[in-house]
Amino acid sequence: MAASRTPAKFYSPLAIGAPEPYRAQPVRLERMIHFVPPHNEKIRSKIKDIAGQVDVVLGNLEDAIPADQKQAARAGFIAMAQENDFGTTGLWTRINCLNSPWMLDDVTEIVAAAGNKLDVIMLPKVEGPWDIHYLDQLLAQLEARNGVTKPIMIHAILETAEGVNNVEAIAAASPRMHGMSLGPADLAASRGMKTTRVGGGHPDYGVLADAGSAGSQRAFYQQDLWHYTVGKMVDACLAYGLKPFYGPFGDFSDGAACEAQFRNAFLQGCLGAWSLHPTQIDIAKRVFSPDEKEVAFAKRILDAMPDGTGAVMIDGKMQDDATWKQAKVIVDLARLVAT
Ligand code: GLV
Ligand code: MG
Repeated sequence: MAASRTPAKFYSPLAIGAPEPYRAQPVRLERMIHFVPPHNEKIRSKIKDIAGQVDVVLGNLEDAIPADQKQAARAGFIAMAQENDFGTTGLWTRINCLNSPWMLDDVTEIVAAAGNKLDVIMLPKVEGPWDIHYLDQLLAQLEARNGVTKPIMIHAILETAEGVNNVEAIAAASPRMHGMSLGPADLAASRGMKTTRVGGGHPDYGVLADAGSAGSQRAFYQQDLWHYTVGKMVDACLAYGLKPFYGPFGDFSDGAACEAQFRNAFLQGCLGAWSLHPTQIDIAKRVFSPDEKEVAFAKRILDAMPDGTGAVMIDGKMQDDATWKQAKVIVDLARLVAT
């Protein structure tokens, strides 16, 4: 009797399309984490409109909020959480770092006043699993004390050399871990990199093509400064069922460069990036939704191999069990975008 081959069921990373028990956390689109300064009343009054346009809205309490506005930002975040219905848009906050004078009050006051509305706390400058353990326990106490009914998740910013060194242990630190973002500005400083940019490339970071004939111009190929760290973060995240994100892109005047940086991260496995300016919302939406032509081709692969096994040729390209899985990643994401 011929042995029938039953392939192990394949679920896209993060179990998009998988039944409940396989899912570590709810499947939601989080293509852009849109930062707002909650102490700014004008911006706060427009939150309803912003929330309808973005997958996640984040009230920022950390860097970029002046020290004398920290309490106003915290109070503003609580007000915006209480006053708005965010629907399917996620509500996050970025609290101040653990050794700052503000962090304890950030968490205590926000969980007490808005714990049932808050999805995720973004924790900056995470150095190791001990930082996650501390916030995890603090949240457990505050959730219990305040009757919070669903666990508040933790999203770590990978933005110190020590954090990058400990990235796997950070990913494994708690079932509360939602994911991680690259923090290229702080990371550059921590590593002693010689750049003042917030994410993106650097014109001097690249390779010079081999010398050709005498007198000819040698081409210079600029390289992605963040390739190594993004790859390391993606592997650590996916190994533990977490979501990887590119972080900020600081040059708002250069949408093309922002798009190229986000696209590299998307192709490497990231699910989203931060939008710090309204123009970056559409860039992230475009980049982190799969390309229609890719989706159409991926659907052809799935159709050609209904049980996901074997080998077929499509347009001269070999397809097999592995490319079937690649296709499924793209088609599952496209379905999520369409819902
Ligand atoms: C973000 O926080 C960064 O430091 O890039
Ligand atoms: Mg930072």
